[in-house]
Amino acid sequence: MAKIKVLPADLRDKIAAGEVITRPVSVVKELVENALDAGAKKIEIEISNGGKTTCLVNDDGSGMGREDAQLALERYATSKILSLDDIERIRTYGFRGEALASIVQVSRIEIETSDGLAGTKIIAEGGLIKRILDSERPRGTRIKVSDLFYNLPPRLKFMKSANWERRLITNLISSYAVISPHIAFYLGDNGRAIFNVPGHASVIQRAKKLFPRKVADALVEVDFSLGAISIAGVVSLPGLTERHGLKYIYVNSRPVKYPRIYRALLELYQEPQYPPAFAVNITVDPESVDANIHPTKSEVKLKDERYVVDLLCQVVRRTIYKKPVQLDNVIAENKVAPVVAAKGFVQDTILSYGEGQSTEAGRTTEEFWQLHGTYILAQTKSGMIIVDQHVAHERIIYESIMKGKVQSQRLLFPITIDLTPEEYRVYEKTKLALTDMGIEFKEFSSRTIVIDSLPSDARINREEIAGIFSELSSIGDLIKEKTEIARVVACRGAIKAGQKLSSVEMQSLIDRLFATENPYTCPHGRPIVLRWTIEELAHKFGRG
Ligand SMILES: Nc1ncnc2c1ncn2[C@@H]1O[C@H](COP(=O)(O)OP(=O)(O)OP(=O)(O)O)[C@@H](O)[C@H]1O
Ligand SMILES: [Mg+2]
Repeated sequence: MAKIKVLPADLRDKIAAGEVITRPVSVVKELVENALDAGAKKIEIEISNGGKTTCLVNDDGSGMGREDAQLALERYATSKILSLDDIERIRTYGFRGEALASIVQVSRIEIETSDGLAGTKIIAEGGLIKRILDSERPRGTRIKVSDLFYNLPPRLKFMKSANWERRLITNLISSYAVISPHIAFYLGDNGRAIFNVPGHASVIQRAKKLFPRKVADALVEVDFSLGAISIAGVVSLPGLTERHGLKYIYVNSRPVKYPRIYRALLELYQEPQYPPAFAVNITVDPESVDANIHPTKSEVKLKDERYVVDLLCQVVRRTIYKKPVQLDNVIAENKVAPVVAAKGFVQDTILSYGEGQSTEAGRTTEEFWQLHGTYILAQTKSGMIIVDQHVAHERIIYESIMKGKVQSQRLLFPITIDLTPEEYRVYEKTKLALTDMGIEFKEFSSRTIVIDSLPSDARINREEIAGIFSELSSIGDLIKEKTEIARVVACRGAIKAGQKLSSVEMQSLIDRLFATENPYTCPHGRPIVLRWTIEELAHKFGRG
């Protein structure tokens, strides 16, 4: 592992700081993540009294030299990042250089480490190094943390029973063990093994070893990739009749709490009596995930969240229901079950795969072609269709606005704009209606407003906001009509002509279009879909 350095002050300020160590499970988490970052192939965790008396983690990773072992206990001392650019593409679990320093402040700690050349033993407590000794040990690191919070009595009170703390630790370690199947894990409490698994070849093999038979038998593998995104792991088939703890979401192998993804997965299984089991790892380019939003790194923010969640749902849905979309049935009937229409982005896609479609053998369409960055070409059972991507999206947004089903999404970077006197007048007249449509404002000073939430399905930037106000100011008295305002917002928020779409985005758009009540004409009356039957094509080609 690279040499440890203390981060410069300007970089420290960019790191989400805060309470890192709150209970034994946080100690174990930090030590295990360090072992994983050090490239360990075998990690042994031994706790006593649920971790309240000791937490010990032993690994066979890169280890540390003597100088590094001492530095490791200082705040902001890390070998994992050097610059702000590195924060934006984190590939390791750690990066703040804060964990060991926080642990040593509130416990007694014993570190034995060797980089394969020389071994070092450090004894420290309450933030101070007491002794540094030579040590005989193979390459790797063993850290024993005792008497957590011995010097912080108020914190001691917040710890729960040994059983409770042990359960948290067991759940945590199994989340790492599932996603790193090739690494051997041992977890023991008071000398008794809780689990002891050798290296496995796959996530499914590992999950089957760690979870009860009934859960394990229901598991199927997910393995999908598209461009820079991949989705892999295991999910249970519907109909699980067992409670279990296998509910893990990972982003770039980091276990995370991601309520939006969790909810989307539950909806996929149609809110079952027993929650589904899943361990899904979403791998994206490290630059498109912000791991630096929560001090314990247990929450991350995907920059392309809506797209990734949508993709995940499609992939899981296909895996568990094995039902691809059948465009012909939907188009032929020109309608779908009402429940399908005008839900949020994610729900639309999920529902449109399973409902409102007969199972009669029809040609399924999963391939889409984008023409001139503007139209989507798709094959159907009886011929072909061409869809105008802009007006299709406009229709989807318009219907969701009119049904009051818009989901609003907070902006990471709110948009501040200065309005002209005329635009401000329009703003005052329409702000309630616009808020209802998912555009939320704060007033700043005289004519400056800050937009901090936008409809999650719309693609609205600063120019579009300005465009919305100038268009609204040109429609005169019609401004009083909700339908008119909705038309303007839908048009401005819809995907533009010329915008490149991935095949998943095209499929999602088509699914959602045919889940609207009127998929054939846009809110301004323009056609959305053109169709040709095989007979028409044959006729044009003189095939009789
Ligand atoms: N088990 C280990 N094996 C090898 N090196 C380690 C181990 N544990 C810690 N280190 C070294 O000590 C440094 C400090 O560890 P610490 O956990 O405090 O910070 P970090 O992992 O860099 O960031 P974070 O605070 O986000 O965990 C690490 O950057 C790493 O170089
Ligand atoms: Mg760390």
